[in-house]
Amino acid sequence: MSDASAPNLEVVLGDITLSNPVISCSGTFASGIEYGQFYDVGALGAVTTKSFSLQKRQGNPPPRIFETACGMLNSIGLQNEGIDDFLNNHLPVLKERSIRPILSIFGENRTEFEKISAQLTDCCRYIAAVELNLSCPNVEKGGMAFCAFPETVKEVTATVKKMLNIPVIAKLSPNTGRMDLAAEAARDGGASAVSVINTLVGTAFDIHTCRPRLGNVMGGLSGPAIKPVALAHVYKLCVKKIIPVIGMGGIFDWEDAVEFLIAGASAVGIGTANFVDYFAAQKIVDGISRYLKEKNIDHVKKIIGKALH
Ligand SMILES: Cc1cc2nc3c(=O)[nH]c(=O)nc-3n(C[C@H](O)[C@H](O)[C@H](O)COP(=O)(O)O)c2cc1C
Repeated sequence: MSDASAPNLEVVLGDITLSNPVISCSGTFASGIEYGQFYDVGALGAVTTKSFSLQKRQGNPPPRIFETACGMLNSIGLQNEGIDDFLNNHLPVLKERSIRPILSIFGENRTEFEKISAQLTDCCRYIAAVELNLSCPNVEKGGMAFCAFPETVKEVTATVKKMLNIPVIAKLSPNTGRMDLAAEAARDGGASAVSVINTLVGTAFDIHTCRPRLGNVMGGLSGPAIKPVALAHVYKLCVKKIIPVIGMGGIFDWEDAVEFLIAGASAVGIGTANFVDYFAAQKIVDGISRYLKEKNIDHVKKIIGKALH
């Protein structure tokens, strides 16, 4: 929409300002470059890259994807080519296309987050924010996810924030501990927002071979099946007004997105939907704009948190 009566879609999450509230979720949109062949991904509020680690990772054994009722299980195992690959191969193309991504990173311990950050200091101006994937296992805590330990969440967030001084987003898991405590810890560490939720642990078995459907047995459930759970987490955090929330989990169309916004999310992440319809995120931006226009609402911020009162 380019006419003067088009609603204003700008959202502000602490020190992050987005032209609209629609963001691609980490791991479901590559680095955004690939989707550029379908549409101008710069029209999204932001593109989040897949999660990069210090070193290249092979990921889990196949099969890695299994479709379930209204969702999918994945056990990619955070396969990636390492942060060097982002810096040498992805970032130059993103720069050329004037796309400032949200860079998702993860480490096995705080030192790894620190080492990745040290490699990013020279390119901060080309990155809109860093998203810390705190659902990944912390080897120093017996492999439990980082976000299970609020003190560690605060430490890691503060370390990255101090080193890079750009907006930091903490991505939280629904599988461990109290998300409100993790969100408070992220805020205290200097995060601008939290992304909620990552996938829910799940599995499936083949009743004929009696074998698991995933090579790793356990995987992460995403898609419409998890939407009510995700919405509940978003709502509970937003009621407490801890920190701005990027809501995600099963958003497939603009109506889903509006539901997250009225539940208090300041922005929304589109994940699994991108696999079903390459244009999903773009359509959601347009749908939110149409919805506001039809309701004579001039600014998207007027619907954020409407269900909280
Ligand atoms: C195939 C796949 C890969 C994913 N990889 C990552 C990842 O690398 N880092 C991360 O933080 N989240 C990852 N996620 C989680 C998503 O970013 C998102 O939080 C989750 O899928 C819920 O949203 P959805 O139901 O819209 O997909 C992945 C999800 C899927 C389906």
